[in-house]
Amino acid sequence: MNHEQSPKLKIVETADGSKTIYNPEVGENYHSKHGALQESKHVFVSSGLDYYLQSNTASKEDAVSILEVGFGTGLNFLLSADFCADEKVKLDYTGIEAYPLSLEMISQTGYEQYVSAETWNNFLSHYEENLTSTEAVTQNCQLQIAHCQLLNFESNKQYDVIYFDAFAATYQPEMWDDTAIAHTVQFLKPGGVFVTYAITGNLKRVMKALGCKVEKAKGAPGKREMLRAVKLA
Ligand SMILES: C[S@@+](CC[C@H](N)C(=O)[O-])C[C@H]1O[C@@H](n2cnc3c(N)ncnc32)[C@H](O)[C@@H]1O
Repeated sequence: MNHEQSPKLKIVETADGSKTIYNPEVGENYHSKHGALQESKHVFVSSGLDYYLQSNTASKEDAVSILEVGFGTGLNFLLSADFCADEKVKLDYTGIEAYPLSLEMISQTGYEQYVSAETWNNFLSHYEENLTSTEAVTQNCQLQIAHCQLLNFESNKQYDVIYFDAFAATYQPEMWDDTAIAHTVQFLKPGGVFVTYAITGNLKRVMKALGCKVEKAKGAPGKREMLRAVKLA
């Protein structure tokens, strides 16, 4: 995949009524056709963020940090920001995105139905600034969208949770090879949680070799299993 954002991107509906984007150059949706909202809630918010918060008793004064590979529409960010606001936990979120969507396209996703008006309005109004710097979206939530290829992303930070939301390996195998996964996992803290919607033998092997405990978790609708890994100390 070596294109800039395609002008032919289309907004399409998924089985739970929530929308996603179809990229005809990749031949793939940004989310599961079985339900964008359900997938995002189940795989990332519930099996990743909530799981991390439940198994770690860090003070609510400390922000939880999330790194997302493939920021796309921002649905995972929006749901995470709302979840953290409800739980009264501060959020420090970085999304890596090689081909950022236009503000116009994001504003047509209809995702305002699923989050508070404050989260949605602040996300839209800061989106373009967030592409170049870290900006607070609300008092307790800051976002940075790193506009770069995954392999060019650099940071001194290690994150509590990683959301790995690349296009499927059939469409973009280079995002799932040993180099891409190792590059991603270096940004995970010991005790941190890595989640993705898929699970393959190779992914399990690579994650174990990188010092993670790997678990098959229940998948989102349409998928039996997904991968969750915890980095061992
Ligand atoms: C499955 S979609 C992500 C969906 C997104 N999480 C959302 O909620 O809308 C995959 C994303 O990865 C981005 N992408 C593709 N190649 C990339 C690369 N080499 N580095 C970073 N992002 C990439 C695509 O532009 C797309 O936004």
